Amino acid sequence: MTSNIDYIDKIPNNVDLGRDRVLQRALEHWQPAYMGWWYDMGPNESHNYDVYLRTAISVDPEGWAVFDYIKMPQYRWGIFLVPPTAGREVNFGVNKGQPAWQDVPGEYRSMLRRLIVTQGDTEPASVEQQRMLGMCAPSLYDLRNIYQVNVEEGRHLWAMVYLLHRYFGRDGREEAEALLDRRSGDVDNPRILGAFSEPTPDWLAFYMFTFFTDRDGKFQLSSLAESGFDPLARTCRFMLTEEAHHMFVGETGVGRIVQRTAEVMAENKIDDPDHARALGVIDLHTVQRYLNFHYSVTLDLFGGDVSSNAASFYTTGLKGRYEETKIDDDHVLGDATYNVGTVRDARGAVAFFKGSDNKGYFLHVGDEIYDGRIVSIDPVSGTVTFRQRVDDPRQIKPYRDIVKRLTPLSEEEAQ
Ligand SMILES: [Fe+2]
Ligand SMILES: [Fe+2]
Repeated sequence: MTSNIDYIDKIPNNVDLGRDRVLQRALEHWQPAYMGWWYDMGPNESHNYDVYLRTAISVDPEGWAVFDYIKMPQYRWGIFLVPPTAGREVNFGVNKGQPAWQDVPGEYRSMLRRLIVTQGDTEPASVEQQRMLGMCAPSLYDLRNIYQVNVEEGRHLWAMVYLLHRYFGRDGREEAEALLDRRSGDVDNPRILGAFSEPTPDWLAFYMFTFFTDRDGKFQLSSLAESGFDPLARTCRFMLTEEAHHMFVGETGVGRIVQRTAEVMAENKIDDPDHARALGVIDLHTVQRYLNFHYSVTLDLFGGDVSSNAASFYTTGLKGRYEETKIDDDHVLGDATYNVGTVRDARGAVAFFKGSDNKGYFLHVGDEIYDGRIVSIDPVSGTVTFRQRVDDPRQIKPYRDIVKRLTPLSEEEAQ
């Protein structure tokens, strides 16, 4: 059966969709399912209204934000990658220096698919979480903003589904379908990450979500934009252009609420939350509670401080650090270790480390590791001191001591 939808016209793209038969065939199945999902789970009772929206029709400055009135189901969800950079390389990890991968490296296939699916899953999830909010928007301005965010999260789903269809064959198509089957908050088939199955029941929650969770979104996209898998990097880089507005919606939303509360409190010279509420504003205690909640569930999205996933995504070159290429180090981090814990054995204190190669190491005082040796282990404070040899004529001493604590973030140097 041939489809009577002209996908090339309906789906603005710069991936030569007209010529890509494999992708077209995959989309012929997925696109109607996506529309079914949008009608069911997109903004409630919004389908028949004209909304003033920006649509990306190309990646250049004139094309990525074209404004017009459109009914949301007719929104043109496009597929865009920023143009390739000639000679781009894998910029970090053990594969650093190889030409960036234009195809999925076989040995990293499942890891890469998981990264793309996890990112893709968050996009429809947030639309589901927010679907009732249009029923009671504070203003037309806010209503337009949430719809803008929603259609763009829909486009972000398209971006990830493009990668699954284009590069992952049959299991990519299955994953793309599953992205439309899971539901935020569904006990049987929930979204993958916890923060995306929490309800967003009101506008303060929405502003907090766009303030914190979209910020995490920007961070994650920035990390994926460094990927050695070039199509993923280029897709995510373009998605970042839209993320700024989502964060703007959160920041100005929270800002307006706090400002109005502060104004009413100052005018009436009150600081009792009950008084503030009686005067029709959201008291600061409530704002604080929302903030605590959204901040916490968003922090959970980063996973543990000691994460073997993050280490292997990095080491393999699939997911970099924020602005990886601007960081001044070797981008391999082969000697970066996580101090996982300290215990004692018959020979004294033992430090257990996990290296970026994902292997565990038991180390005693005096043991050599990388370019230095361990000079002390303090099980009480959970700190380990390395004496690293340095070959730097500007240094007074031919070594420097590096103190590692239980979390890699609090690494300190003591000369
Ligand atoms: Fe998104
Ligand atoms: Fe977003």
